[in-house]
Amino acid sequence: MTKILLTLHVLAAIVAVGPVTVAASMFPPAARRVPARDGAVAVGTVRLLHRICRVYATIGVSVPVLGLATALAMGVLGSGWLITSVALTAAAAGVLIAFVLPRQEELLERLDVEKPVEHATTVRLAMFTGIFNLLWATVTVLMIVRPGSTTGA
Ligand code: HEM
Repeated sequence: MTKILLTLHVLAAIVAVGPVTVAASMFPPAARRVPARDGAVAVGTVRLLHRICRVYATIGVSVPVLGLATALAMGVLGSGWLITSVALTAAAAGVLIAFVLPRQEELLERLDVEKPVEHATTVRLAMFTGIFNLLWATVTVLMIVRPGSTTGA
């Protein structure tokens, strides 16, 4: 059972977090390029990137759910590395929900009415996206290294 849960947890992390990382990282440069390109097509691309982020972020809820189920089955819920991972996962989700997705929406609204997008706005969005990526990458390292753990490799 533990192996099945762990497999599903890792699969969910790959399938859900991967697309969010790529689409969110592509969003700021794509939004910046809109005025220089065929408007409607370019905005369509930016909208698709936002949709990928939103849909896969929702699917991503399964990552901590399956992670907690795995931790429960393994009896490691009280481990330091796990508690730190839970906190960092919550922080990553918070950054995505409170900063990345709403700012993407704001930018899309401006692009829809052909208002200029300030360079500083896309730079700030890229910064929040970078923080999100850094947080979940740190969680992945913690999941693999498990500092202080005496079980497994
Ligand atoms: C609430 C959040 C999370 C919990 C409770 C959790 C829990 C767990 C547990 C218990 C394991 C098994 C570790 C072991 O084999 O001893 C695991 C493995 C793993 N988790 Fe998570 N996890 C969470 C979030 C994440 C996130 C956000 C990612 C990546 C995006 C992730 C990626 C992985 C990977 C790649 C492994 C396999 C590590 C290995 O077996 O070497 N987890 N997780």
